[in-house]
Amino acid sequence: MITGASRGLGRSIAEGFLKEGCTVVLLSRSSKTEQQILEYREKNWKAFYIECDLSVREDRSRAFDDAIKLLDGEIDVLINCAGIQIRHPAEEFPISDFDEVLELNLTATYDLCQRAANVMLKKGYGKIINFASMNSFFGGYTISAYAASKGAIAQITKAFSNEWAGKGINVNAIAPGYMSTEMNINLINDESRYKEISDRIPAHRWGTGEDCVGPCIFLASRASDYLDGAIIPVDGGYLNK
Ligand SMILES: NC(=O)c1ccc[n+]([C@@H]2O[C@H](COP(=O)([O-])OP(=O)(O)OC[C@H]3O[C@@H](n4cnc5c(N)ncnc54)[C@H](O)[C@@H]3O)[C@@H](O)[C@H]2O)c1
Repeated sequence: MITGASRGLGRSIAEGFLKEGCTVVLLSRSSKTEQQILEYREKNWKAFYIECDLSVREDRSRAFDDAIKLLDGEIDVLINCAGIQIRHPAEEFPISDFDEVLELNLTATYDLCQRAANVMLKKGYGKIINFASMNSFFGGYTISAYAASKGAIAQITKAFSNEWAGKGINVNAIAPGYMSTEMNINLINDESRYKEISDRIPAHRWGTGEDCVGPCIFLASRASDYLDGAIIPVDGGYLNK
């Protein structure tokens, strides 16, 4: 089960798992997802989708239950990739925008982890992959709500891991660096900021969705059975510089 797979990193990751023959349910609010699923089916990929707005609590609960029914009552892997970013100077950040960012990035992730774990705990096996960020480590600029949400993602990943690692569930997070997706359009269009960030990436390029596929497949496989509560940077070395 994956959220945020209508575009960006989540889409590449969903396709990476589908290519490997996995059954994947996308929880998506995008009206274009139906067409996306038809294209996947033409490739004989086992893809399903449930339409929902993950920032609406009742919708989220209904969507999770519907997805579990599609998966015959089981879930092996949950990937929480949906996320939003809203920019304002910190002193002007409207609390309503703060709430919006926190509800999707943090509360929805917390809620889905909890729901998935309740299914996984019954069979004593499961893999949960959350999406953290460089802003789990740094505060950033004009994205104070986003930084708050991603800092918290690192913490709930560790907290859940402490309680579930001994019960067969691995909870880890990917912390992407600067990736070329629509989320970063503002940064990519800001010439000086773009240069400043690019100069700091030892790999000399921004990341792509493809760069996240391998790490996610590793975290979803038995190869990562002894990896718990890790926040793994996928950042071309950005954090080290
Ligand atoms: N792009 C980056 O540089 C970067 C860096 C670090 C972390 N991340 C994180 O990785 C994840 C994916 O980022 P991306 O760059 O692919 O973003 P994106 O904006 O391209 O895609 C975000 C996805 O979330 C979905 N989404 C947003 N609001 C939703 C809602 N209310 N209900 C259901 N789905 C909703 C969108 O439909 C979309 O599929 C996010 O959690 C983001 O914070 C991204």
